[in-house]
Formats: sequence, structure tokens, C-alpha cells
Amino acid sequence: MFMNFRRIRKCQCVQLLTTGLVLCVVMVCWEELDHHVVSHMRSYTYRYLVNSYDFLNSSYAITNSDLERRNHLNNWEGGLGNYPYLINHPDKCRGEGAGGRMDDVLLLLFVKSSPENFERRQDIRDTWGNESFVWSELGERVRVMFALGVHPDAERRSSVQSALRQEDYTYGDLIQQDFLDTFHNLTTKLIMQFHWGHAHCSQARFFMSADDDIFVHMPNLVRYLQELLSRQSEAKDLWVGHVHKGAPPIRRKDSKYHVSYDLYPWPSYPDYTAGAGYVVSGDVAAKIYQATMVLNSSMYIDDVFMGICAKAMGVSPQEHVFFSGEGKAPYHPCIYDHMITSHGHATDVRSLWRAATNPEVHSSSKGFLGNLYCTAVKVMLLCPPYYQNTYSCMAAFA
Ligand SMILES: *[C@@H]1O[C@H](CO)[C@@H](O)[C@H](O)[C@H]1NC(C)=O
Ligand SMILES: *[C@@H]1O[C@H](CO)[C@@H](O)[C@H](O)[C@H]1NC(C)=O
Ligand SMILES: *[C@@H]1O[C@H](CO)[C@@H](O)[C@H](O)[C@H]1NC(C)=O
Ligand SMILES: *[C@@H]1O[C@H](CO)[C@@H](O)[C@H](O)[C@H]1NC(C)=O
Repeated sequence: MFMNFRRIRKCQCVQLLTTGLVLCVVMVCWEELDHHVVSHMRSYTYRYLVNSYDFLNSSYAITNSDLERRNHLNNWEGGLGNYPYLINHPDKCRGEGAGGRMDDVLLLLFVKSSPENFERRQDIRDTWGNESFVWSELGERVRVMFALGVHPDAERRSSVQSALRQEDYTYGDLIQQDFLDTFHNLTTKLIMQFHWGHAHCSQARFFMSADDDIFVHMPNLVRYLQELLSRQSEAKDLWVGHVHKGAPPIRRKDSKYHVSYDLYPWPSYPDYTAGAGYVVSGDVAAKIYQATMVLNSSMYIDDVFMGICAKAMGVSPQEHVFFSGEGKAPYHPCIYDHMITSHGHATDVRSLWRAATNPEVHSSSKGFLGNLYCTAVKVMLLCPPYYQNTYSCMAAFA
């Protein structure tokens, strides 16, 4: 009896100590936990239980007097609320182009690039951004343009600018406005893309915006868009990519994505696709253009701003498992057969392009056995239990 009692007391002691220790750890990590767990729980709860973002309409609407002032201040060639163009090609999407007259453009693709990323742009031109390749191999007209601001460093600006003019003289595919090309001006860059598209390429069936460090499997993308067009209904009201649902604003001051309560007081963002690469149909591009004319563009995270615009126009994003967010595709023929975008490429774009567009890729997954083999490979590559930054496990069964 006495022995038992002592054992119980010992147990309780251990319990108490453990609880204390856990509490200490929780308190030490509270800051992190608060930001990561609590804010996510709050935002997911909001997204999945309430899921109403009607407040965005009125909160981000600009009043008529603001509009007039903006109109007055910024009535440049670029249009309302835009900066003046430094490099422009208004006819790039009209008249003659690769594959003859540009009346029927399948896709206008804007690559968000930074002035000093000369090499990345060249890699893209020589691989997935090659318009002639898409015309001769796939029989579709696409336009690939690079969206730029000016170099933020005043000392280097003029030399970089003259290199840009030289580059543009050779390739004629840069679109640049007179704003500083910084992270916090990405929304300005987004507005430039939609305004340019509206003014000079509104006939394009689809519009895409992409980072300059992504890989686009152009043949797969073109086939996907052709399929959408052949089923007419889906070529409208479309916004597709890697969807973030119920993402919370990040309040940590040291984060690149920090957003203050003044700028966005609510617990959760409307759904949006990762800015790394997404596609909208022509009608949605027109709606986003309309939204940028009447909404406050102070939200500087461009993909979130896109979500706000879309919400105000009643457009919802749609998930496609082979559009990547932050993730990088595993290198394997069974993946190349389906991949649309893959993020985080710099030096390997050329080798990946050669490997992924090799005609033999398609044959590896042919037939019942090929299919079975590829599903097994994809499960192994995409579904391991530990965290890995690539397509989701669902993509293995798509
Ligand atoms: C846009 O919102 C910001 C921050 O909420 C505010 O400071 C600014 O005055 C607003 N601009 C317009 C034109 O409404
Ligand atoms: C682009 O594609 C065309 C047609 O396939 C090809 O002839 C040309 O060499 C390619 N350009 C580059 C820079 O690779
Ligand atoms: C955005 O560009 C404008 C025009 O060049 C500049 O005045 C502003 O400081 C830039 N904003 C940021 C946050 O870099
Ligand atoms: C306001 O928001 C809702 C959805 O949140 C949307 O359906 C509606 O079209 C929006 N726009 C206006 C101008 O009310």
C-alpha cells in the first residue's frame, strides 16, 4: 500500500515535470507558434466556415474623387494609373508574326523579369519561350514578352538600361515602364501586364503570367489549352494554377511578405494562385483589367492583389496539380509527360527543355504497362511521407 502510494506520487511528479517542460517550450516558441499555427488556424477556420470576402469590394474600392485625381495625375500613354512606357511594342500582337497574321493568338505570356536577369531571358527565348518552335511544332501562335521596371540602383541604372535597349533591339520582346523594379512594386508590374494585354492583345484566347525562374512545358501547356478550347464552356471564366486557399496575412515584421493590419486587417486572403505561373482566359483577363481600374492597388503582393481583383469580379481560381507553386518538378520522363510549370530553375532550363521535349518521353507511358509503371514512379516521387517541395501526391493519380 505504502509502496504503491509512493509510485503514484513519483508518476505525478514526472507528469508535472513534463507538463512544465512542454509549457516552457511552448512559451519559448510562442512567437513562432502564434504566427504559424494560430494564424493559419484562424484563417482556415475563416476560409472554410465563413468564406465570405464581400468586404473586399467596398474596402478596396476607390472613390470617384480619387479616380479623378489619379486620372489627372497619370494620364500617360500607358493609360489610367500607369507609368509611362520606356520600351514598348504596341504591334507585337498585331499584324505579322511567327505564323503569319496575329488574328488568332492562343496565348499571351508575360514573364516577370528583372532588368539584370539577361541570362534567364536568353535561356527562356532559346527554350520554352521560342515562339517559332510553338508555331512550327504545335501550330499555335503564342506571344512571349518580358515585363520590366527600371533598375532600382541609381548608379547602375543607365548602364543596365542601355544594355536593355540593345537586347530589345535584337529581340524586340521587352515591355518596360518607368517604375522601380522592386519586390514592393510587383503589383504595379501586374497592372502593367493586364493593361498592355487589354490595349494591344485583347484577342488572345488566354493570358499567362510567370516568373523568370520557372520552366514551362510549352507543348503540354498548348495541348491543355487546345483541349479547353475544344470544350468551349471551359475556355471561359477560367483562372488556373496552384491555388492557395485561406492563406493568412503574415504579420512578422522581418518577413518579406509582411503585411500590416492597416493594409489588410482581415484574418485570411481570398483564394489566389501562386504567382510563379498561372493562366486566365481572355474574358477573365478583361475582368481583371476592369478591376485594376477601380480597386486600390496598395496591396503589394501581386498574387494576393490578383485574388482581390478576381474576388471583386466573381472569378474563382481552379487547381491544376501540374502547375507548381514554390515547388520544383522531379526529373523523370513520367513527370515530363504531364508537367505544365515547375518553379525554381535557373541554370538547368536548357537541359530540362531538351529532356522534357524529347519525343521518346511520350512513349514511356504508353499502353497499359507503361501507364502502370508511370503511376508507380509518380507515387514514389510525389508521395513520400516526409515534406518535399514538389507537386502534390494527388498528381500521381491525375
Ligand atoms: C489605398 O489604401 C491605402 C492603404 O489602406 C491608403 O493609404 C490609400 O489612401 C488608398 N488609396 C486610394 C486611392 O484609395
Ligand atoms: C526556335 O524554334 C525554331 C523552330 O523549331 C528553330 O528553328 C530555332 O532554332 C529555335 N530557336 C532557338 C533560338 O533555339
Ligand atoms: C515603385 O516605383 C515608383 C516609381 O519609380 C517609386 O517611386 C517607388 O518608390 C517604388 N516603390 C517601391 C516600394 O519600391
Ligand atoms: C462583390 O463581391 C462578390 C463576391 O464576393 C461578387 O460576386 C460581386 O460581383 C462583387 N462586385 C460588386 C461590384 O459587387
